[in-house]
Amino acid sequence: MVVTGASSGIGAATVRRFAELGWQTVAVARREDRLRALAEETGAHAVVCDVTDEEQVTRLAAEVTATGGATGLVNNAGGALGVESVEHASNDDWRRMFEVNVIGLRSVTAALLPVLRVGARRTGWASILNLTSTAGHDAYPGGGGYNAAKYAAHAVTGVLRLELAGEPIRVMELAPGLVHTEEFTLNRLRGDAAEAARPYADVIPLQADDVARVLVGAFEQPPHVNQDLIVVRPVAQSSVFHTHRGPLVPRAE
Ligand SMILES: NC(=O)c1ccc[n+]([C@@H]2O[C@H](COP(=O)([O-])OP(=O)(O)OC[C@H]3O[C@@H](n4cnc5c(N)ncnc54)[C@H](OP(=O)(O)O)[C@@H]3O)[C@@H](O)[C@H]2O)c1
Repeated sequence: MVVTGASSGIGAATVRRFAELGWQTVAVARREDRLRALAEETGAHAVVCDVTDEEQVTRLAAEVTATGGATGLVNNAGGALGVESVEHASNDDWRRMFEVNVIGLRSVTAALLPVLRVGARRTGWASILNLTSTAGHDAYPGGGGYNAAKYAAHAVTGVLRLELAGEPIRVMELAPGLVHTEEFTLNRLRGDAAEAARPYADVIPLQADDVARVLVGAFEQPPHVNQDLIVVRPVAQSSVFHTHRGPLVPRAE
């Protein structure tokens, strides 16, 4: 099982969850120190790779093959930059979001598909799961480039499922709502810790481990079961626009 974006948040929690259930994982990200620590903790094989660098992605595929192959891929590496309006956003931020959330996802998928086919010939099946977001399904003010990139990742997932029809390879999408990971909003808000804490204030968000359990659960289904799209939100968030702050209390009769 190859998991990109494994050095923090949902990716790291996913590697931990797979390891608990006895899956062999390849943990992929740019920060080597974090990957090494995760590998030591879980037994995962760490591969340092920037998914936006095609040569590094080619080397990743070769290393996965050399270390036993794979029957699963989780395209989780991604993130958001900025909350500026379409009118005032930076094209550089938009390019970086497209590079990692869309083109990186495509590169890794393309490089690993031959490896997954080898795995499918050996075991009968293979699986791909793409981490998009509810931001890939509902636009919101300030969502801008992140909305656009995740909508694109959603579209790519659908195209891929159609293109792989007839092969024993399922293509799944997991779209989480509000998840409190330590770096996602901090990176989006360029290190402003006070602002980054605001979306999680007085609300019960999902934790990385909640998402990892749902994600790994999709791989634990019988291999002919393809959960095309899984949307997971905290109970306190009934839509992108409705986040309940304060305690959740049953209404009086
Ligand atoms: N947190 C949320 O509320 C939320 C909600 C819905 C969807 N998501 C999506 O879920 C995924 C994980 O989010 P998260 O909250 O766990 O965020 P996170 O903690 O910031 O994790 C992002 C991961 O992606 C890796 N990464 C970033 N750029 C990369 C690159 N060019 N090459 C390789 N790895 C790269 C980072 O590691 P390195 O920096 O070490 O490379 C990190 O491990 C993302 O796709 C995100 O868009 C998050």
